[in-house]
Amino acid sequence: MDKDVILTARGITMTFPGVKALQNVDLTLRKGEIHALMGENGAGKSTLIKCLTGINDFEAGEIRMDGIDGPVKNHSTRDAQNVGISTVYQEVNLCPNLSVAENLFIGREPLTALKTIDRASYNKRSQIIMDDLGIEVDVTQNLENYSLAIQQMVAIARAVDMDCKVLILDEPTSSLDDEEVEKLFKLMRDLKAKGVSILFVTHFLEQVYAVCDRITVLRNGTFVGEYPIAELPRVKLVAAMMGKDLDALEAIEKENADFDKAEVVIDAQGISHTGTVKPFDLKIHKGEVVGVGGLLGSGRSELARSIYGADRASTGTLKVKGEEVKIAQPIDAMNRGMGMLPDDRKAEGIIGDLSIRENIILAMQAKRGALKPIPMKEQEAIADKFIDLLSIKCPSREAKINQLSGGNQQKVILARWLATDADFLILDEPTRGIDVGTKSEIQKLIIDLAKQGKSIMFISSEISEMLRTCNRMVIMRDGEKVNELSGDLTQEGVMNAIAGGEK
Ligand SMILES: Nc1ncnc2c1ncn2[C@@H]1O[C@H](COP(=O)(O)OP(=O)(O)OP(=O)(O)O)[C@@H](O)[C@H]1O
Ligand SMILES: [Mg+2]
Repeated sequence: MDKDVILTARGITMTFPGVKALQNVDLTLRKGEIHALMGENGAGKSTLIKCLTGINDFEAGEIRMDGIDGPVKNHSTRDAQNVGISTVYQEVNLCPNLSVAENLFIGREPLTALKTIDRASYNKRSQIIMDDLGIEVDVTQNLENYSLAIQQMVAIARAVDMDCKVLILDEPTSSLDDEEVEKLFKLMRDLKAKGVSILFVTHFLEQVYAVCDRITVLRNGTFVGEYPIAELPRVKLVAAMMGKDLDALEAIEKENADFDKAEVVIDAQGISHTGTVKPFDLKIHKGEVVGVGGLLGSGRSELARSIYGADRASTGTLKVKGEEVKIAQPIDAMNRGMGMLPDDRKAEGIIGDLSIRENIILAMQAKRGALKPIPMKEQEAIADKFIDLLSIKCPSREAKINQLSGGNQQKVILARWLATDADFLILDEPTRGIDVGTKSEIQKLIIDLAKQGKSIMFISSEISEMLRTCNRMVIMRDGEKVNELSGDLTQEGVMNAIAGGEK
């Protein structure tokens, strides 16, 4: 093995029933580099990672780690950790109600001479580890007191302290805001300087160019190539991932009508939710896409939930098409022609044991009522339509949703809400975890829906996609509306408004 190389995977092949997830895939990680693993939803990124970390049992190929004579075969994450490979997944697998220090040392607590857990020692060691990595926390505090970004960093710190040589991050940034992403990047760069190699998966292309040295691209379970970052500019990267050029981004053309004259579909007055949303007025017209911008925790999702009845609004009135309505729970909202794709799909969306078809028709069925089952033929037609429309990569519509890649699961949940044919749709981070190609398809779809007369409230952490799709934007800070922008929306204008715009 080349002395600069820490890990090689050669010819990795892995099949799930009906799906060749990986065919003859190679990966080469160099010492102290940040390496992006890129590909569309379902390309095989997570599957490859699980082969490296002993979760997946691959059929062919071999993995070699620096300093080990011969191929290694990991049979568990513990095996992988023992050879120096650690992974931090998007959902942090730590215990929120334990302290930071306890989380760092779970399962490997230092003991006193009397064989009891040596709290003083691990608190002290934990503080040194965190200070060393430049993470500002009090290690005796419960993990849940810290932001998701800090929690992720604690997970990384734990991996690093277990002497990891290869750190794998599978979409760690998808629910972080810009500032938190910067913190994570700083940590990644520091680790790189210490010689740790990082394999990084993300669907945010600009992040790849911000921190990575090299890129490996997968497509449909096959290896497309490995490139130094300078040799693969954005357009070429996208072309390598998709197997064709992406020209869709330019094609988006939003409606620029004067919405003030259009029918008011949603008229919320003084809607609040104690502790998260201060009294808020919001009007949304027919055919209008209204973006809600703001940092994480600014109350965007909570506002959406209060309008939709997922959380009960503490004050305020809501008129739908001029008629005052009482919305105590989501089904009331659905019956008024509303639909909401929630932010937290793990908790509120995906039902793993059901098929793709069943997951898609769920909200439609709830709206019709259990006594009026949707005929099977119709269910199948609806499922097929959305599988096609959102290019959901799956072996069949009857496959269980938990057999799909992360991004394809997201698409199924989006399909569920599109299928209800709601007049007013709240979309909370609809493109999170979704690859660039499909992302622009979804943005086009949002504009198309608006052109058909639907009204949409669109929440996204990516300002650029809101600029592309929204006719108007409201900006929130600390649970309050601080600004409203219409006309020519610009990145700078929106960022200024989010950062410190005046009321
Ligand atoms: N447990 C499973 N059972 C059956 N098929 C699976 C399973 N896990 C993954 N697959 C299939 O393997 C393929 C690769 O999936 P993988 O999760 O590796 O994609 P990915 O590149 O990580 O995509 P994403 O960007 O959406 O996370 C997909 O076609 C997926 O449906
Ligand atoms: Mg994945």
